[in-house]
Amino acid sequence: MVATILPCPAHHPDPTVVERAAAAIRDGRLVAIPTETVYGLAADALDLDAVRAIFEAKGRPPTDPLIVHVDGLDMLTRVVDGPLPPPAALLVEAFWPGPLTLVVPRNAAVPAAVSSGLATVAVRCPSHPVAAAVITAAGTPVAAPSANRFGQISPTSADHVFVELGDRIDLIVDAGRADRGLESTVVAFDGDEAVILRPGAITAEQLADVVAVREVRRASGETNASPGHDERHYSPRTPTLTVAASFDPAAAPAAGDVVYAGYADRAPTLPDGWRFESLGPLADLDTVAHDLYDGLRRIDGTHPSLILVELTGATGIGRAIDDRLTRAGSSIVLAHADELAGRLG
Ligand code: TXA
Ligand code: MG
Repeated sequence: MVATILPCPAHHPDPTVVERAAAAIRDGRLVAIPTETVYGLAADALDLDAVRAIFEAKGRPPTDPLIVHVDGLDMLTRVVDGPLPPPAALLVEAFWPGPLTLVVPRNAAVPAAVSSGLATVAVRCPSHPVAAAVITAAGTPVAAPSANRFGQISPTSADHVFVELGDRIDLIVDAGRADRGLESTVVAFDGDEAVILRPGAITAEQLADVVAVREVRRASGETNASPGHDERHYSPRTPTLTVAASFDPAAAPAAGDVVYAGYADRAPTLPDGWRFESLGPLADLDTVAHDLYDGLRRIDGTHPSLILVELTGATGIGRAIDDRLTRAGSSIVLAHADELAGRLG
C-alpha cells in the first residue's frame, strides 16, 4: 500500500476531497487529516474495528488512549456521558473550536478501547476548517491520535505523515503546514479545578483566565495521569539529551559529532566540531512551536551522533515546548556540561 496525498486548501476545503476522506471514515478505514495542531490519523470513533486499526497502524500500545474529535456541541453529546462538568462547560465556551482536549465521562456509545478501558474520554473540537468539514461530512465522532508511529515525532505536514505511515494507510489529506505545530492541551477535572495533564497549544495562563487550574508535574515512576504521555516520546531516532537553559556547552569536551539545538537569539559558544542548529528565536515562541517538530526531523536527518536540545525556560507556550523537548530527551535534563562525561560517542 502506498498512500495517496490529496491536496486540500486549508481555508477553502475542496468538497470532493472532504467527501473522499469522510467516505473512508464511514467505511471504517483510516485517513490522515490536517488539524490546527498536528496531523491526525482519523477513523470512526464508534467503530471498534476502525479504532483497533488505528492502534495497529501506529504500533501504539492499547494502554494509550485516543482523543475523539467532534464538530460541535450536538456531536459532543454522543461522546460524553451526561452533562459536562461545570468547568469543562466554561472551557468549551472559551476555547472551542480549538486546541483544547477535555477529559470527561465516557458515553457508552464510545468503545472502551478508545479510552484504553478508562471511564473517561478525551474529546476536542478542532478549529481547522478541513478537519471540521471532514468530521461533519463523516457524521460521526472521529478518533485521531497524531499521525506518527508510536513514540516518534508528531507530523506537522503531509510529507511527515507519508514518512511515518505512507505504507500503512491509503489516504493523506494535505492542507500544508499545521498552524500551531504542537498538540492540544489535555485537561481533566477535579471538582471546580481543571488539571493540565499535557501542556499544549492553549497555555495554562489562558486557561487560568477562565477556571481554576492545577498543573500535574509527573515525577519519574509516579502513576501516569495521562496514560501514554510517556517520558520518552516525540523522539528523534538519533540519541537525544535535553539541556537546561543554564547549561554551558563551552565547558563540554569536544568529542563526537554533536548537534546543539538552541535559539538564534541565545546562541552559545560551542566546542570545536559541534554544530549549532536554531529552533527559532526565543523572542517568538509561537514560531518555535510552529517549527519545532519539522526542525527536530531535519536535524535527525543529518545523522549526528548526539543531539542536545535546549529548554526555553519560558512560561506560556514555552511550557509545552519544554515538555516536548524534555520527552525528546527521555526526560533526562542536564544542568552542567560535566554531566555529559561518558555520554559522548
Ligand atoms: O492536538 C492533538 O491533540 C492531536 C490532534 C491530532 O488532535 N492529537 C494527539 O493525540 O495529540 P495523541 O493520541 O498523540 O495524544 C493523546 C493524548 C495522550 O497524551 C493521552 O494520554 C491523552 O491524550 N488521553 C487520551 N484519552 C485520555 C483519557 N481518557 N484520560 C487521560 N488522558 C487521555
Ligand atoms: Mg501523539
